[in-house]
Amino acid sequence: MEQHIYPIFDKMLTRADKEELLGQHGVMIWFTGLSGSGKSTIAIALERELHKRGILCRILDGDNIRSGINNNLGFTEADRVENIRRIAEVSKLFVDTGIVTLAAFISPNNDIREMAARIIGKDDFVEVYVSTPIEECERRDVKGLYAKARRGEIKNFTGISAPFEAPEHPALTLDTSVLSVEESVGKLLELILPKIEKK
Ligand code: ADX
Repeated sequence: MEQHIYPIFDKMLTRADKEELLGQHGVMIWFTGLSGSGKSTIAIALERELHKRGILCRILDGDNIRSGINNNLGFTEADRVENIRRIAEVSKLFVDTGIVTLAAFISPNNDIREMAARIIGKDDFVEVYVSTPIEECERRDVKGLYAKARRGEIKNFTGISAPFEAPEHPALTLDTSVLSVEESVGKLLELILPKIEKK
């Protein structure tokens, strides 16, 4: 066991203790893709399925992160890096508590996603690319932001006036213009249940 200078730390419960208590392994499911690609929708449906199976999860997405802990950040490259850095640090705490953590953020390039994987730990990091084509995301335009970006009312909009780099080796790719939510969740369960279930 790891030795600490201060004896009190030796008494601290470990990740393994938490995982034993919960009867599950902590893991990070990192959804990347364009705005409107379906990242949060899939994460929410996946969480429901895992919950039904007695698995404790935590979703992090724009709704609970950009409105709270990261409400001082915008969409410059530097702010996006800081956004993802904080999300990764918070996620790490959840994963280290044995919780299945689902993050749904554009995270638009390989460097940003690499940073997240490094912070969280590559062994715990499952990258899922929600690859829905931009034409479909723009057609849906759930929040009306693509129209605004096209009119130049929003600057640095991913896919329109800011770049999106597709992941090179995602564990799974889901195109929601082809797959139903149920089909995507089915593929995800197949991939992650073996990582979550305690042997
Ligand atoms: S990230 O690039 O830093 O990972 P994040 O996932 O947190 O982005 O936030 C993306 C969401 O913010 C989009 O789904 C959209 O609703 C909103 N948004 C507002 N401005 C922009 C912009 N310039 N580029 C992309 N998304 C934006």
